[in-house]
Amino acid sequence: MPAEWWRSAVVYEIYVRSFADADGDGVGDLAGIRGKLDYLVDLGVDAIWLTPFYRSPMHDHGYDVADPRDVDPMFGSLADFDGLLHDAHARGLRVYVDIVPNHTSNEHPWFRAATANVDAPERERYLFRAGAPDGGPPNDWESVFGGSAWSADPTPGGTGYYLHLFDASQPDLNWRNREVRAEFVSLLRYWFDRGVDGFRIDVAHGLFKDSRFRDGKANAWDQDEVFDIWREWRKVADGYDERAFVGEVFLYDMDRVAQYVGRQKLHQAFNFVVARTSFDADAIRTTLRRALHLFLRHDSAPTWVLSNHDLVRHVTRFGGGDLGRRRGLAFTAMLLALPGATYLYQGEELGLEESDVPPDARQDPVWLTSGRVGRDGARTPMPWTSDGPGFGFTTGTPWLPFDEQANTRDARSQSGDGTSTLSTYRRLLAARREIRHRWSGSPRWADRTDELVVVEQELSDGSTLLVACNCADDTVTLPVPAAAELVVATDHADLDGGSLTLAGATTGWLLLRR
Ligand code: GLC
Repeated sequence: MPAEWWRSAVVYEIYVRSFADADGDGVGDLAGIRGKLDYLVDLGVDAIWLTPFYRSPMHDHGYDVADPRDVDPMFGSLADFDGLLHDAHARGLRVYVDIVPNHTSNEHPWFRAATANVDAPERERYLFRAGAPDGGPPNDWESVFGGSAWSADPTPGGTGYYLHLFDASQPDLNWRNREVRAEFVSLLRYWFDRGVDGFRIDVAHGLFKDSRFRDGKANAWDQDEVFDIWREWRKVADGYDERAFVGEVFLYDMDRVAQYVGRQKLHQAFNFVVARTSFDADAIRTTLRRALHLFLRHDSAPTWVLSNHDLVRHVTRFGGGDLGRRRGLAFTAMLLALPGATYLYQGEELGLEESDVPPDARQDPVWLTSGRVGRDGARTPMPWTSDGPGFGFTTGTPWLPFDEQANTRDARSQSGDGTSTLSTYRRLLAARREIRHRWSGSPRWADRTDELVVVEQELSDGSTLLVACNCADDTVTLPVPAAAELVVATDHADLDGGSLTLAGATTGWLLLRR
């Protein structure tokens, strides 16, 4: 892998609960992942990102961390983690782990100490506040999961509230407290010393809140003080070889997101504007051009992300079914051709759609708190085979149910079918490996107003990669240089001396040799 591997890596997000279950309890685990590493190597990814596997009461499925230095028994042990890391590295795969600095679990020893009595010094590590004069919450901030962000202080004799921007079981930390800062630096070192290659930073636009706790959502998030933390963390990472941070900066203002990255801040940050872009040529051109311009200027790298465990799966967002899948593939193929790091979410390589999880099976705290459908539909387990009821994921009862997609969209069936979504992903990732060390100069976007996105990327050997994405539903033909060669396409593509015909919702990569 090249220096600064993170700039061009294809990173595969593993939602640990739902990837592969080795012990038959219905929940995925580290040993399960270890057994599937060859699948990931065959797919062609460079790195994996593991969602939290730390000790947790699992009210937010692991994003409520009770002991960040140990593995939850549900997922295995530290020895399993070390084994997984070793086996991944032996196959050339880098490993990102999640770190959750905005909050802890209410079962974390710090919060237990903080709520043992009203004079406990540990209270300074969280955000306890007196109620408003009418006895209600201190301000109007809302929890992302629904309702007030304040819950009654459970300390004996406590009369006020504590802040939780997510679930009530996830009390927010006080980042103006020195012990909190020191603890997280120590935690970074703990996992870096174990050998992890990077961290995905949960809620990286959180941490600091307005110091006067004024009303208004803007005061609860995205305060400039957080950049101090990223500067401090960057120094820690730079003390090791080739480690990286990717921040979950969940803002839709790309200029602002770009302020989180740079030589002395985070290496990169997720750009969720891409995930919000519809399958429309104009929208795609505008978003991708802007992202490249901004993030390369900040000496970072764009991040390309369409799906993750918090978003509705993109096949569904793009209309579902065959058309949604074709659009998803075409968009992904466009992203994979461009400089930057691409993040894939488990199951997208199978073309999975959002599952329809029946209300009585839903487990997301979003659903439990607010009655909104929530994120379970993106989190159902991986169908490895078409053999129900466990579909190769588990020998037990899966923690979220499979739906009918599992019967046909499983990894084993698709593996043997050259026209499947999985096979197309493999071809795309293999093609990307050939070019991704050779990107040079900025991509050139064709000025068009139709349903075609066309971009040319120079490669260091003087050849040019021409990428064309047909966003229309119907076939189009476009003129291309006569010597162009077709590298890969997501669906029907015909190259006939000087003209390229692309099926609807299809992307093709052409190579123009020097
Ligand atoms: C992030 C995670 C999400 C979690 C939340 C609270 O947004 O991706 O799954 O619920 O943070 O930790």
